[in-house]
Amino acid sequence: MTQRRSLDPDDWRAARRQAHRMLDDVIDHIESLRDQPVWRAPTTTAREHFTEDLPRAPTALSDLHQTFLEAVLPYSSGNAHPGFMGWVQGAGTLPGVLAELLAAGLNANLGGRDHMAIAVERQLTAWTQQMFGFPTSATGLFVTGTSQANFLATLVARGRALGFEARRTGLGDKGLRLTAYASSAAHGCVRQALDMMGLGEQALRLVPADDQHRICLASLAHVIAQDRAAGCTPFLLVGTAGTVDTGAIDDLGALAAVARAEQLHFHIDGAFGALGVLSPAIAPRLEGIQLADSIAFDWHKWGQAPYDAGYLLVRDGELHRRTFAAEAAYLQRSPRGLGAGAWWPCDYGPDLSRGFRALKVWFTLKAYGARELGEAIERTCSLASRLAELVAAEPRLELLAPVALNIVCFRFRAPDADADAVNSEIVMRLHEAGRVAPSLTRLGGRTAIRAAIVNHRTDERDIAALVASTLEMGRQCCSREPA
Ligand SMILES: Cc1ncc(COP(=O)(O)O)c(C=O)c1O
Repeated sequence: MTQRRSLDPDDWRAARRQAHRMLDDVIDHIESLRDQPVWRAPTTTAREHFTEDLPRAPTALSDLHQTFLEAVLPYSSGNAHPGFMGWVQGAGTLPGVLAELLAAGLNANLGGRDHMAIAVERQLTAWTQQMFGFPTSATGLFVTGTSQANFLATLVARGRALGFEARRTGLGDKGLRLTAYASSAAHGCVRQALDMMGLGEQALRLVPADDQHRICLASLAHVIAQDRAAGCTPFLLVGTAGTVDTGAIDDLGALAAVARAEQLHFHIDGAFGALGVLSPAIAPRLEGIQLADSIAFDWHKWGQAPYDAGYLLVRDGELHRRTFAAEAAYLQRSPRGLGAGAWWPCDYGPDLSRGFRALKVWFTLKAYGARELGEAIERTCSLASRLAELVAAEPRLELLAPVALNIVCFRFRAPDADADAVNSEIVMRLHEAGRVAPSLTRLGGRTAIRAAIVNHRTDERDIAALVASTLEMGRQCCSREPA
């Protein structure tokens, strides 16, 4: 056996040919998405490829590619497909895919140091400041997703409430009395963030939502007053710009005023909705977002960047830094050389090793421009309005929530005792049929079919197919026809 000097290919020409084939296949896949099923159940044979023992010997790249083509690609979750409307997921774009390739080729570590990838990430911070009307002293950080960004924001809020001594001493007795506020329609990750920061989920007061699924301001005032009277220390108010179930937007301006009066950190979970600021038609509905102390959102949802690309923007950069920056001899900064630069991304969050997420977002924003991305966002909202009209016009369907943005919750009318089971069965049948893929949620104690239209490829045909297939599956279920 010849001794290898590195893990690079022995035959660069052959490797290049194989790489070009793989790139072609990726492009073929994206180009032909509409002709494929949105989802199909992974076969046993496909799964068996991934239950092998640890490989000890090498396998040719072409064989690995073949396995990917046969056992992974056909069984993806389908979020790139125009018929995908389940959960809240972006579709990706070709510029984003290519940027991922370039980023992987560079293999940059964006924890810090003086190199150009950091400058690209800083460019994104500046653009994000501009998008949300934040000052240039605001700081930002790419993270995995909004769940993580919300968690980091709660830590920033803790530093603001308790000072930074808590980083050294822990929460102690003082921390046990901290309370946070969000609506009952807030995403579960906000509750989880309070758990992970050590306060416990119960420290998050879930304030009732109104009939538009927005936080009820009178109830909020009442709950805060009650907590103060009981000796608690309210420290954080989380508004939602686009709730996960219905797309409702809290009254952000009013929440900013409450936060100011009560001296709370005002954080906005804008996982998908925050990027509505890119559309002149939607931006006015987000009025007040510019007043937040921090905003969490995802470029991988309405921003259509490939997974993953969550983001946290913090108004007070000093507060942000003091929440996370930690000195270490091996991370010391030098006046010159690769170790230069005053503040590094690792000073703004817990991750030291970080990939080049910024590049795919930079490519996406530059390739399309903010205006075109905003128009794509607007189209998803128009499709949601159209879907709501089709549902309202169909006697066998029932709309279950107002449509604020791009999410439509509805259900097939069936006798009360069967309705939840019938609608769950409809969604499973829709997935198995492979034309459209909505998801399920529960609203007001009832099972709802939820179409979250996030995908820039979704169009009128997909909306019409969702309505027609739901009716067909609903009739089948009610007449007990097998799937
Ligand atoms: C309002 C809201 N918050 C948070 C999240 C979680 O975001 P991520 O999946 O990027 O962690 C979502 C996901 O859909 C969401 O809609």
